[in-house]
Amino acid sequence: MKKEIRVELGDRTYPIYIGSGLLEQTGSLVNTCRSRCQVLLVSNPTVYELYGEKTKKSLRESGFKVVVSLMPDGEQYKNMDEAMKVIDVAVAARLERGDVIAALGGGVVGDLAGFVASVYHRGVDYVQIPTTLLSQVDSSIGGKVAVNHPGGKNLIGAFHQPRLVIIDPRTLDTLEEREYRAGLGEVVKYGIIYDRQFFQWLEQQVSAINAREVEAVTEMINRSCLIKKAIVEQDEKEQGLRAILNLGHTFGHAVEQLTDYKVYRHGEAVAMGIVAACHMAREYGLLSGEETDRIKKLFKKIQLLRGFPSLHEEYIFQTMLKDKKVQAQELQIIVPAGIGGHEFITAPSREQIFRAINSARMSE
Ligand code: NAD
Ligand code: GLY
Repeated sequence: MKKEIRVELGDRTYPIYIGSGLLEQTGSLVNTCRSRCQVLLVSNPTVYELYGEKTKKSLRESGFKVVVSLMPDGEQYKNMDEAMKVIDVAVAARLERGDVIAALGGGVVGDLAGFVASVYHRGVDYVQIPTTLLSQVDSSIGGKVAVNHPGGKNLIGAFHQPRLVIIDPRTLDTLEEREYRAGLGEVVKYGIIYDRQFFQWLEQQVSAINAREVEAVTEMINRSCLIKKAIVEQDEKEQGLRAILNLGHTFGHAVEQLTDYKVYRHGEAVAMGIVAACHMAREYGLLSGEETDRIKKLFKKIQLLRGFPSLHEEYIFQTMLKDKKVQAQELQIIVPAGIGGHEFITAPSREQIFRAINSARMSE
């Protein structure tokens, strides 16, 4: 049984299919938007070893010619050099405008493959086949594609919507516990900034979610995709509302960058950033102490709270200033307004950022 969610964006509308075992149907699903063309399958050795053959077989059985390009595993490889290597494979295979790139892997593979699809031949179609929780609930949907620059995360990128997203929750069976929990950071984020009922549902279902019970996990993915879809449909290119999806990210990206992407998983950095944003919201009277505690309690229950690194706040602040949301040298921080709501804090002072980091540290 598969669920279908449509991201309605005019001529860029596409389906998200969610269902156990869908990986084996990759070929027939890709066939719904393209037939008998060449598919450049981008993955990394970890994921390819687990799911590469199955995906390739399914594509070939549906008449596609498949060429594979593997990038090394890790956020540090989400860069221009690796993107260029994928482009080299595309050029060598004579990939044409009518061909398709398929991203099989987590958010790193998806962002990089999507980026290549956005620039190769001035843009070719691509399909997302996300295999981590984070990529299934967030990064595979909405068309943000990018690679990192030494000066900052995701600084080189585009908005380029996929033609289709294929989510097979069964792929999560092989995902390490830490990666699974990191993905929960983005899930909780949706509840905090957009959907109070979803937050309550997460509180109620936390044991089933921790135990990775298939029904609860599939429902969680489904509800997360519905929220992301709703936000992207209202603001595809992040002119306003979509920025709320960056809750916790300005703090989190700075921490990831300052620790060379080696210490924290993205979702862990986001969770610590969300806690800092909650303390900021408290200062503005937007969140009560009780609500802040509820958020922290949920993060604790999913074992996602890792402490801020012992870096001086000034380093974190200076790195935050390189964020893409900085305008005229002024930061914009998204904070919760109650559970299920959001607010933008424009130009917070250096001292406020310091206080938010230190309050988060004290509450660890
Ligand atoms: P990731 O892609 O690095 O995957 C995490 C690890 O899990 C990797 O080692 C990977 O090889 C492994 N893995 C993947 N699927 C597996 C499976 N089924 N079984 C076993 N191992 C598996 O990390 P991620 O958390 O998926 O993605 C993080 C990236 O996503 C960051 O670069 C972040 O910037 C990006 N992101 C993008 C968006 C967006 O809208 N484009 C949103 C959120 C995050
Ligand atoms: N994950 C942030 C966004 O898609 O806008």
